[in-house]
Amino acid sequence: MDLTGKRILVTGGAGFVGSHLCARLVEDNEVRAVDDCSTGDPSWLPGGVELVDGDLTDPDVAAEAITPDTDVVFHFAADKDAARDDIDQYRFNNRLTETVLDRMDEAGVENIAFTSSSTVYGEAPRPTPEDYAPLEPISIYGASKLGEESLLSVYANSHDMTAWVFRFANIVGPRLQKGAVVPDFIHKLREDPSTLEILGDGRQEKSYMHVSECVDAMCHVVENATRPFNVYNLGTRTTTSVTTIADIVSEEMELDPTYEYTGGDRGWVGDVPRMRLSIEKLAALGWEPDQSSDDAVRQATRELLDGD
Ligand SMILES: NC(=O)c1ccc[n+]([C@@H]2O[C@H](COP(=O)([O-])OP(=O)(O)OC[C@H]3O[C@@H](n4cnc5c(N)ncnc54)[C@H](O)[C@@H]3O)[C@@H](O)[C@H]2O)c1
Repeated sequence: MDLTGKRILVTGGAGFVGSHLCARLVEDNEVRAVDDCSTGDPSWLPGGVELVDGDLTDPDVAAEAITPDTDVVFHFAADKDAARDDIDQYRFNNRLTETVLDRMDEAGVENIAFTSSSTVYGEAPRPTPEDYAPLEPISIYGASKLGEESLLSVYANSHDMTAWVFRFANIVGPRLQKGAVVPDFIHKLREDPSTLEILGDGRQEKSYMHVSECVDAMCHVVENATRPFNVYNLGTRTTTSVTTIADIVSEEMELDPTYEYTGGDRGWVGDVPRMRLSIEKLAALGWEPDQSSDDAVRQATRELLDGD
């Protein structure tokens, strides 16, 4: 699908990734966002993007946002706290996606791009390809994403929709909020420059991707993948350990703190300690990241310190 001259709705458009995507899409398209601004911020929306301010689990809000002339919905709204470990998060995220799909079906809107997560794989061998099975998520968040993906598959395969599903690695960049590791370390070191508490043993090793590359990759996939149900991993080929992130943040803040590890091999219940996604499918479609995982973390650290 060519992303020019289209009417596009971004759910969660005032959030971290959503606001960066809105900025990219509004250059060549008519863009509307729907967001209840629970974690997002309306000031992050670029000029020219209309905001429907409301809770998307409400079918009336969905009807106002998803009009029959919408060409494609980018569905980003979610509770994305992977450490929450609360069954209500499963219900909430699935409710959001049910409401979006139900309204799209009613309004005859045929295209949806959805942000899933590496957490659907659980503790899988690495690099993990999209066709790895069995999918055994170990967090409520991962289970919620897998449930939402399966619902999208039904609408794609039996209700004539086209769906693009993105299984994100960890996305970093300006506007990333405190629950994520880079802003968390910055916040802690501003409070106490001499000591840094690190969850787990610091050897957790994951792939980080800058939000600008994530937005590029998503647009490339939507423009080039043509099956009814398209699943793509989005990440970098390399990984960064939590201790390396602490080193990068400390260096950029010109500090030399003592690290205090909370212990254990993971940060929280349901944390997957090692994650690296295969991006061969993405490469075969003609898109390759420029940055390593370490470079993405360093760039995001600088941007967050600059208050971008
Ligand atoms: N950032 C990452 O590293 C990452 C990794 C994997 C997957 N994802 C997924 O990507 C998507 C975007 O993530 P993000 O990092 O930008 O998170 P975010 O929290 O910044 O964005 C989510 C947005 O959804 C909005 N929202 C939440 N509940 C809503 C509701 N009921 N009605 C309307 N709006 C609502 C929030 O206000 C927020 O603006 C999410 O689906 C997330 O699960 C993100």
